[in-house]
Amino acid sequence: MEITVCTAPDVALLDRHMGSPGRTSFHARRFARQEAGECTYLVAWLDGRPVGHTEMRWIGCAAPEVRDVRPECPEIGGLAVWPEELRSRGIGSELIRAAENLGRERGLAEAGIGVAMDNPRAAALYARLGYRSLIDYQDRYAYEDVDGAIRECVDPCTFLVKDLR
Ligand SMILES: CC(C)(COP(=O)(O)OP(=O)(O)OC[C@H]1O[C@@H](n2cnc3c(N)ncnc32)[C@H](O)[C@@H]1OP(=O)(O)O)[C@@H](O)C(=O)NCCC(=O)NCCS
Repeated sequence: MEITVCTAPDVALLDRHMGSPGRTSFHARRFARQEAGECTYLVAWLDGRPVGHTEMRWIGCAAPEVRDVRPECPEIGGLAVWPEELRSRGIGSELIRAAENLGRERGLAEAGIGVAMDNPRAAALYARLGYRSLIDYQDRYAYEDVDGAIRECVDPCTFLVKDLR
């Protein structure tokens, strides 16, 4: 398994192998944010195929509740491993470590990660990797579904932080 920074041709491969719900390509959005300097989009590869990704968002969490208390903290987001049978083999942990290392290279003291309150398995993984609960918040996002309708989502989440030093 190797982890690389997403390139323009990788976006189509990600769409093919790890598709987004509906018409919005989450990968294209993240790549555009990377081009704008807002994030680094990391992709995990196995035998030439993308099997995981995470976005190190240098601009931090979008939620105002989190920005109020941690305006400088980058957020590790968009974390997923696919297909399901490849989960629980360490790929997600390696993606998180790679994102943390990018933060250390920039001399940052802390990294954060948001987890939905209905995702206790992911929360258990982040706790094992050293993340501690900071604040609860509402994660608000939108995407265009297969029928072209815009879906507005609000997920109750907890923002966790880890000291990188
Ligand atoms: C969460 C996720 C990225 C972890 O990747 P991974 O490669 O399975 O992680 P690792 O192998 O390093 O660590 C395994 C741990 O991840 C967690 N995990 C495994 N499957 C999971 C799942 N379907 N959903 C959430 N967490 C899961 C568990 O804590 C697991 O530990 P366990 O095997 O002892 O139960 C991956 O499981 C996934 O894509 N889940 C669905 C999407 C998701 O929940 N993303 C996180 C959003 S905050």
